[in-house]
Amino acid sequence: MACSLLLSLSFLLLCIVSDSASSTKLLLPIVKDDTKTQYFTSFLVGAPKPTRVYLAVDLSNLWSWFTCDIYGYKSSSTFKNVDCDSPKCATYGGIGCVSCTSGPPTPSCTNNSCGADAYSPWSNMLYSGGLVGDTISLYTLQAQNPAQISKASLRDFPFTCADKGPLKGLSPYTKGILTLARRPVALHAHISSAFKVPHKFALCLPASSASIAGYNGAVYFGGGPYYLPPTSRIDLSRSLVTTPIVVNPNSTAPIYTVGDPSIEYFINVRSIKVDGTPVRFRSSLSFDKDGVGGTKISTMDPYTVLHSETYKALTGVFVSKATTMKITRVASVAPFGACFDAQTIANTKTGPGVPIIDLILDGKSPVLHNKNARWRIYGANSMVKVSNKVLCLGFVDGGSSPRTSIVIGGKQMEDNLVEIDLEANKLGQ
Ligand SMILES: *[C@@H]1O[C@H](CO)[C@@H](O)[C@H](O)[C@H]1NC(C)=O
Ligand SMILES: *[C@@H]1O[C@H](CO)[C@@H](O)[C@H](O)[C@H]1NC(C)=O
Repeated sequence: MACSLLLSLSFLLLCIVSDSASSTKLLLPIVKDDTKTQYFTSFLVGAPKPTRVYLAVDLSNLWSWFTCDIYGYKSSSTFKNVDCDSPKCATYGGIGCVSCTSGPPTPSCTNNSCGADAYSPWSNMLYSGGLVGDTISLYTLQAQNPAQISKASLRDFPFTCADKGPLKGLSPYTKGILTLARRPVALHAHISSAFKVPHKFALCLPASSASIAGYNGAVYFGGGPYYLPPTSRIDLSRSLVTTPIVVNPNSTAPIYTVGDPSIEYFINVRSIKVDGTPVRFRSSLSFDKDGVGGTKISTMDPYTVLHSETYKALTGVFVSKATTMKITRVASVAPFGACFDAQTIANTKTGPGVPIIDLILDGKSPVLHNKNARWRIYGANSMVKVSNKVLCLGFVDGGSSPRTSIVIGGKQMEDNLVEIDLEANKLGQ
């Protein structure tokens, strides 16, 4: 609900939250690569001549990393090694010690460094390197003048340099990953301690690629209030529907030590409804004894991925509800399994006029008169335009034995403010 000024005139300000309270807000812009459906940010690293880097925003990565050499980031007066025997390395969850002793230390060649791995979900390999810290640039929104964006800098932001191996599958606009996973080494944790702001962040993923305004999405750090033009008198943090963040006791990372919990953001989905009708399926949505199952959010999956049985049940109810609305089904377009004639779908304030999907969540919400929390998905977030004539239900079949039962993907989060509160362990949207 929040952040969705879909059809407003100020679409360029879609995700730009103004802040009329006394505090300033820290943020990084987010841009969408439409062809890959990936979301990335950009900032400057190092001194005295900073390097601009473009990194995919990921909620699941162990480390932030980029290809230092490709960006020409080879020396910096503000970079520091994170020593492998330092308390910082232990806090960050460093993996052993890495040594590179060919000549004077550079960001991609440090001696006695805290071990870290560069990885993307599409690369079948990890690139191991040393963890370093350097100054990066952030933006702040000014209290009195929301159009006025100024710069802030953050020292010792931890990341590792990689070669081009782990770039596989990433948008060609990016050469690395910024992690926002549930981990002390993630940017949100570092911002929270450096600027003494609440340990929260909120994503507003843009629905379209960059506009003439430069960017139309953002990640905000430090929590609300969130004021969104043009109704900037309403604080969106008060209308967020929240549900507890649950910890999957079994790691979902590419490498881990037995006993490590997952660093991703899981929530409990109890049931799914389409226009109020429950979707019936037998497969469980909870974790089994090995942490298989559950529901997580992911910016690296363009569309929500469901266990096959759940997917078929949801599609079945959706198609029959759509049929009663006189929406005509047409041949499917991969990867989607339910596509419709766009001419038979009305345009509404909330996007294409299709059945509404509700994920019913744990927790009662005061915003919903103390009913169960829900993640409501209107046409704007459920339908993907594959051509001028065809709109498809933007959910995909994840097979019959997925690691996670429901992966809520980027499309379903676009133009919605999704807040992760790491103090109260709640997800709000
Ligand atoms: C690398 O670090 C180790 C451990 O601190 C040290 O003994 C060694 O001399 C260092 N090597 C170089 C080339 O700096
Ligand atoms: C999952 O975690 C539980 C609790 O820590 C543990 O007993 C179980 O062996 C783990 N399963 C796997 C496959 O690691």
